[in-house]
Amino acid sequence: MKQTVTLNIEGKSLELPVLEAIAGASVIDVRSLSSAGVFTYDPGFLSTASCDSKITFIDGDAGILMHRGYPIEQLADQSEHLEVCYLLLHGELPAEDQLATFKNDINERMPIDSQFAKIFDGFTRSAHPMSMLCAAVAGLAAQFHEGLDIYNEAHRKESALQLIAKMPTLAAMTYRKITEQPFIDPNPELGYAENFLNMCFGEPGRASQVSSTMASALDKIFILHADHEQNASTSTVRLAGSTEANPYAAIAAGIAALWGPSHGGANEAVLNMLEEIGDINEVARYVDKAKDKDDPFKLMGFGHRVYKNFDPRALVMQDSCHAVLAEKNAQDEPLLEIAKQLEKIAREEPYFIERKLYPNIDFYSGITLKAMGIPTSMYTVLFALGRTPGWISHWCEMLSEPFKIGRPRQLYLGSAQRNYTDIGSR
Ligand code: CMC
Repeated sequence: MKQTVTLNIEGKSLELPVLEAIAGASVIDVRSLSSAGVFTYDPGFLSTASCDSKITFIDGDAGILMHRGYPIEQLADQSEHLEVCYLLLHGELPAEDQLATFKNDINERMPIDSQFAKIFDGFTRSAHPMSMLCAAVAGLAAQFHEGLDIYNEAHRKESALQLIAKMPTLAAMTYRKITEQPFIDPNPELGYAENFLNMCFGEPGRASQVSSTMASALDKIFILHADHEQNASTSTVRLAGSTEANPYAAIAAGIAALWGPSHGGANEAVLNMLEEIGDINEVARYVDKAKDKDDPFKLMGFGHRVYKNFDPRALVMQDSCHAVLAEKNAQDEPLLEIAKQLEKIAREEPYFIERKLYPNIDFYSGITLKAMGIPTSMYTVLFALGRTPGWISHWCEMLSEPFKIGRPRQLYLGSAQRNYTDIGSR
């Protein structure tokens, strides 16, 4: 039987339907509320579903993350990133020939036009890679301006392929720019993560020297970041896309939203924090700072809006992290020692236990990327690269059905109407 919720407002009664979810919380459909002259108030969207979606499901209390119904642990263990990209975009795992075609489609689109590459000349060496990535992705709209009909399914599909394909190339170009090295072209013979690592760390004209441990750890990082339902950057992509903006503009908006330290910037912030702590004997002092309400300091890489017991991605990442550290002989890395001590104290402290604050994926991915020799300022770029299939899948999902421009309401608490006063009498 269909459930409803009855709301009484100023003597009037309103029946609101409850929409049943396949899994997780059902939602009260409040769309008819505006006819009663009231809105709902939910800053930070703590209790508000902004859309319906068939892509990803998270149960934060149970530590469950599934893409198109497949648990993240199975995907991370048995799949590869491009297969997960296909799954997110198409809703089903690809058959062998479908995956081969998809990989071929991606490989063909990885190269960046030499004229377009000049966009990087406008940046100095000290530019943040996220700034370059954001500009370059928005700039792709200029290159593909003839394929930007968002209501044309073939155009949408082409944009999705272009973005997934070009993101590693652009990301590697930001790295070569900050390290003042010539760009390396993508190699269609290499896998997705291996190609990215070779474009960063290889030498032009020389065969790839990328180790399979590094390539596979990075591929896993990409899988673990591939989508996370309606997080801040994905919601930004949907909101920007709902204005009928082109996909490159919408994804650039998502990249900008990801940059903040409360979201994708957290992996970079974790390493900065470990460096600031600097000494294992300082860990307890920093934990006290994090608990002090008068101190704005927070433990970066701890806590999550949705996961309140554990982050399933962090568990998978832990293993990958250890494999990379073992190959790099980095177990004795001082920052890692600090990280381990921090994790231990935070897990024992009532402050963190009571608030359900556990290490999140950024805690482990930051350490793994450090051991791989990737500079800290590149971490959020890697998050963006991994998250691109999620963003573009949500954008495609929104556009494949009727949608409305996203336009939140507000609770106005400013001055009531008053009269303009002449400047001399203020
Ligand atoms: N260190 C110390 N205290 C914290 C932390 C932390 N990292 N995170 C939350 N708290 C406290 C917070 O002060 C509050 O305390 P009280 O109840 O006494 O006021 C309580 O825990 C609840 O926190 P909240 O801010 O209401 O939680 P939220 O859901 O709004 O924020 C968060 C989630 C991820 C923004 C926050 O935990 C945080 O800033 N963590 C550090 C940054 C980080 O690692 N972000 C990456 C998230 S995972 C990547 C992704 O998926 O984007």
